[in-house]
Amino acid sequence: MSKSILIVGASRGIGLGLARELASRGWSVHATERDRSDDLHSAAEGAEITLHTADVTDPDSYADLGIDEGSLDAILINAGITGAKHQDASQATADEVAHVMMTNAYGPARMGKALLPLVKDGGTLAFTSSILGSITNSSGGYDLYGTSKTAQNMLAKGIAEKDAGARDIQVLSLHPGWVQTDMGGSSATLTVDESVTGLADVIENAAKATESGGYRYLDYTGEELPF
Ligand SMILES: NC(=O)c1ccc[n+]([C@@H]2O[C@H](COP(=O)([O-])OP(=O)(O)OC[C@H]3O[C@@H](n4cnc5c(N)ncnc54)[C@H](OP(=O)(O)O)[C@@H]3O)[C@@H](O)[C@H]2O)c1
Repeated sequence: MSKSILIVGASRGIGLGLARELASRGWSVHATERDRSDDLHSAAEGAEITLHTADVTDPDSYADLGIDEGSLDAILINAGITGAKHQDASQATADEVAHVMMTNAYGPARMGKALLPLVKDGGTLAFTSSILGSITNSSGGYDLYGTSKTAQNMLAKGIAEKDAGARDIQVLSLHPGWVQTDMGGSSATLTVDESVTGLADVIENAAKATESGGYRYLDYTGEELPF
């Protein structure tokens, strides 16, 4: 039977690329958009991609996705934003902090927890994180975005410890590399295809893993990253 995944935030960029890549590898893909994405709808034509609408900051929007409990091998919560352009803790307004934290950290964690029953025992719950969330790696800058991804990693570890472990569900925080998307910009070092080929390998390896449960922070090549 084919493997199945829910990808949250698949309207464009890495999420869209990964939906296409995993469907081409024979996965059954559930993919979400907030507003209609023509690119995602064309990708779904003739492919094993089922479309849903969801906003990671709005629990009502994903309260009933119509996906059976215990039916998914994996969920990837990929939705994310950069946050205010200045990225500066000294300038940030309360609204700017709330928006980036809710979209990149608390929203994904809350959604991951709420949707965990959809994942099979021994499956995978993954979040698209970033190397900019690594405290070890940090040389400062990107205050808003970086701290939101650090917080996301912390919350993901909490889900691994408190919620997912009991069902042997592995929790992953994934850095996709610096990727040519609306967020990454055209100077980024990786194409979407390069990034999603690696991410799909990491997700497939997690799905095949004999050891279960636990929490890992990995990049798109499968390399372990320092927190
Ligand atoms: N590109 C990079 O170099 C890079 C590096 C490290 C990590 N990342 C992470 O990779 C993920 C994808 O980034 P990307 O480069 O593909 O960016 P992107 O092209 O800007 O796409 C962002 C995706 O997130 C969705 N999204 C944003 N806010 C959402 C919300 N409230 N609810 C649901 N979906 C929402 C967007 O949907 P709409 O179309 O509706 O806005 C879109 O599908 C993000 O988590 C990002 O932080 C990217």
